[in-house]
Amino acid sequence: MAFIALGVTGSVAAYKAVEVARGLQKNGHEVTVIMTASAERFIGSLTFEAITRRDVITDQFTVGLNASVEHVSMASAIDSLVVAPATANIIGKFANGIADDFLTSMHLVTRAPILMAPAMNSNMLGHVAVERNLEVLRGRGVRFVEPTEGDLACGWTGPGRLAEPSSIVSAVEESLRPRGSLLGRCLLITAGPTYEDLDPVRFLGNRSTGRMGRALAQAAARRGARVILVAGPISLEMPSGVEVVEVRSASEMHQSVMERKTEADAMILAAAVADYTPTSGPRSQKLCKDEHIETIKLTRTLDILADLGGWRGGQSRPVLVGFAAETEEMLVHARAKLKAKNVDLIVANDVSQPDTGFGVDTNAVTLVSHDVETPVPLQTKNEIAEVILNRVEELLRGREADGPQKVLSETADRNSSS
Ligand code: CTP
Repeated sequence: MAFIALGVTGSVAAYKAVEVARGLQKNGHEVTVIMTASAERFIGSLTFEAITRRDVITDQFTVGLNASVEHVSMASAIDSLVVAPATANIIGKFANGIADDFLTSMHLVTRAPILMAPAMNSNMLGHVAVERNLEVLRGRGVRFVEPTEGDLACGWTGPGRLAEPSSIVSAVEESLRPRGSLLGRCLLITAGPTYEDLDPVRFLGNRSTGRMGRALAQAAARRGARVILVAGPISLEMPSGVEVVEVRSASEMHQSVMERKTEADAMILAAAVADYTPTSGPRSQKLCKDEHIETIKLTRTLDILADLGGWRGGQSRPVLVGFAAETEEMLVHARAKLKAKNVDLIVANDVSQPDTGFGVDTNAVTLVSHDVETPVPLQTKNEIAEVILNRVEELLRGREADGPQKVLSETADRNSSS
């Protein structure tokens, strides 16, 4: 999760910045919007305020902002400064160090990475003055999301259209990604519930929403990992830069994970997989109440995590992490799962509490490994994801110290029933 300042400047495309703010928020970031005076002529600050649930900064000299010299304190707090749309005027001001409003003053103070998405008339974009300013900024490490070609608000057709909000969001993600900490690694993550169909309209499911798995996938991608997210039916938007494999049932999830198991350096199984499925499979026709079906025969599903633990046996890779969602005796159950499933880490959480269960953005967990148990206090799932990944990185480094990875082949697939 990052704290992003979104500068909106005076272009007809200013309304598209609303989508940029929403996209960044959906990816788990906190967004604060700064509007220039001319941006306010195109779009009202209320729209951004409602979306970001934060005050929108429109005036450097607003009473209350100066006690803490807000443009200085915000400049130090942000992880990224994004300007979308960026007019020729703001590009010129940034290039020449002009500081005549909040956004331009903050630009001079911040050391956070800067990303700009220009939008202007084609001739303005091609003007030697603008080209020179862009060059100056590029030379200082400012990144740009290039404008596209098309119909412009001024009636012309050509280059200068603001890039699509989704491309701007992806570029921000890319610019935030710390180079390296999981670069060259592949992480497979499962997320969400599974649905065991009874008939064409009914299923057995659970209350998992996939938030924890999605937060893990997002954070791992940001650290540079290749991420495969095997997701049960979830209605959340999927993070960008992640390979998503959509599945429905426990058996589909089992198959998808097993097919990809040799690709992963670490696997984090955050999905709430059904433990039972209807024995005779889904009925092709809808069950009718006149059939008086009062009991449904169920069969155990395959335990993906246990099968992975069995397949890995005594080998050092992949690192295996499971979750234990408990309502009582959390640590006792977590320790038992750690051993029984032959995994390296169990993330135990008490789902009986309102702020640590399903469907909320917060969690408090205990990381249970073979040698240490670490309580992680209540915080957002995005923050918990970072703590889990720090531990996964430690485990990966520990395995490296043990010697080169023994490649597990399909022939070692002795315990998998996929
Ligand atoms: N898991 C799995 N495949 C299953 C069931 C669970 O991979 N068929 C994984 C989950 O993704 C999670 C961990 O195993 O990482 C949870 O363990 P599990 O024993 O299934 O937990 P519960 O279903 O809560 O088990 P129990 O009812 O025995 O407490």
